[in-house]
Amino acid sequence: MKAILITGGAGFIGSHVVRLMVNKYPEYQIFNLDKLTYAGNLGNLQDIENKENYTFLKGDITDENFINNIFNQYSFDGVIHLAAESHVDRSITDPLAFAKTNILGTMVLLNAFKTLWKGQWEGKRFYHVSTDEVYGTLGETGLFEETTPYDPNSPYSASKASSDHFVRAYGETYGIPYVITNCSNNYGQNQFPEKLIPLFINNILTSKPLPVYGDGNYTRDWLYVVDHARAIDLVYHKGVDHETYNIGGFNEWKNIDLIKVLCEQMDQKLNKPKGTSAQLITYVKDRPGHDLRYAIDASKINKELGWEPSVTFEQGLSITIDWYLNNKEWLENVTSGNYQKYYELQYQK
Ligand code: NAD
Ligand code: TYD
Repeated sequence: MKAILITGGAGFIGSHVVRLMVNKYPEYQIFNLDKLTYAGNLGNLQDIENKENYTFLKGDITDENFINNIFNQYSFDGVIHLAAESHVDRSITDPLAFAKTNILGTMVLLNAFKTLWKGQWEGKRFYHVSTDEVYGTLGETGLFEETTPYDPNSPYSASKASSDHFVRAYGETYGIPYVITNCSNNYGQNQFPEKLIPLFINNILTSKPLPVYGDGNYTRDWLYVVDHARAIDLVYHKGVDHETYNIGGFNEWKNIDLIKVLCEQMDQKLNKPKGTSAQLITYVKDRPGHDLRYAIDASKINKELGWEPSVTFEQGLSITIDWYLNNKEWLENVTSGNYQKYYELQYQK
């Protein structure tokens, strides 16, 4: 019986990882540790919450006493660490919160893991889930490889880069068997409507402007969240200790082109005349320090572990939109209360 701690499992990507692991490995005990910030939502996991191999623990990864106690109590063989502050715009408003959770929180977990196992590493693994944003920005050409030097530009990416360095340092210094993955932008069901795709779906549904930063010619590489969760499962079980793997779908889109495809799909699904949603597109002030382009070379994970995405972008986007259309209550729940304040602050500047 293996005990695996998944942090941030009530969030967007974490909830897909928890679901996959709980359903696929009934012989594992899966513990989901989450602080339930604005981004965490246990409603994301209703379908598995009563499974025997699933336990939810509410807590903060920066709370050393709490973390040390649960490591002692449950003796986690593995950690899959996703808990983080994850939104670039919020990191520009409140950078210290990102340093605390993303850097200090990661160190508290590493320390607890080190103290628990005291060098007895057989069968143990610390998996750190990171982002391609640590590599900084690309120009018009080229791809991020695992060997690309770190060059983060936002407080979010700087905090993730720092946490990656601490994971490596604990590996080199104390021998912790770690793996790190750096993934491109995710999209899919259960994503909080502050990130581009769910924000724009929600705004189309509520007939609000679609705020495009700058000229809209920024490029991101999009991956369907279930494919990211599949990659995490694979790397957790088959990845090589002390290695990092880039994850991405070879699926680059300029923001404005992606937004037009999204608007077309929304018009079709809502039975509105072509061009209706696109009328909401509004160019707004650019994000400070906005990275021009992200694009991942995912050939290492493909060649060494045999991973590839299971859906095309058009299929994934269609599944995603359908989910939001069929789960309006979920959207209404997460956009009530504090969300309105966040929205005003972010977009009325
Ligand atoms: P999210 O914001 O949706 O979820 C984060 C979760 O962490 C939430 O459930 C939140 O409650 C929890 N959390 C936050 N602070 C906590 C704390 N102090 N203690 C315990 N729990 C806490 O984020 P996401 O998009 O699912 O991202 C998950 C991970 O994947 C992050 O580490 C992020 O850097 C990384 N990542 C995200 C993307 C993406 O496109 N979303 C891409 C690559 C990597
Ligand atoms: P986002 O989803 O915040 O992810 P990230 O910044 O981590 O890549 O943003 C994706 C792209 O969309 C990015 O270039 C910023 C842009 N964007 C907008 O143009 N308008 C918006 O309201 C948001 C949230 C993002």
